[in-house]
Amino acid sequence: MELIFNLNGKEVRLAQVPGEESLLNLLRQRLGLKGTKEGCGHGECGTCTVIMGGKTVNSCLVLAAEADGRELFTVEGLGDGDHLHPLQKAFIEKHGMQCGFCTSGMLMSSKALLEKNPDPTREEIKESLAGNLCRCTGYAMVIESVEAAAKAIRQGGNNE
Ligand code: FES
Ligand code: FES
Repeated sequence: MELIFNLNGKEVRLAQVPGEESLLNLLRQRLGLKGTKEGCGHGECGTCTVIMGGKTVNSCLVLAAEADGRELFTVEGLGDGDHLHPLQKAFIEKHGMQCGFCTSGMLMSSKALLEKNPDPTREEIKESLAGNLCRCTGYAMVIESVEAAAKAIRQGGNNE
């Protein structure tokens, strides 16, 4: 099937995408966007979290076909190398940057949260990260990072 969607602000057109292909596979294998990680592959770990139509989804559970006509946002859309997104800065400064597996998904969940709720409570941050599992270091520094990013965005940082 043919798919047309907006990915990180740019239109993408793809032909001959199999109907059973997952969005995760499309992003990683077809488009080479390896920032979205495959952990469990069945909806439990959150490493594959992306934002579709303003809401977080586990891309391992979503068919690529569902992206047709939608807006998608992946971790590659945050910052541009020279200019970091406030979440990226805060994750670095507050040591929320954890391993390469869980961090992308945590950034996506946090971005979706701050778009809806620019001044979240700790409980709301915890709730938004409930689907992003880390079995290694815990969540305290991640939560502090999201709080710092929220403050920076409220003070004029860009949450694009
Ligand atoms: Fe998708 Fe774990 S890889 S939830
Ligand atoms: Fe990434 Fe635990 S899974 S630090």
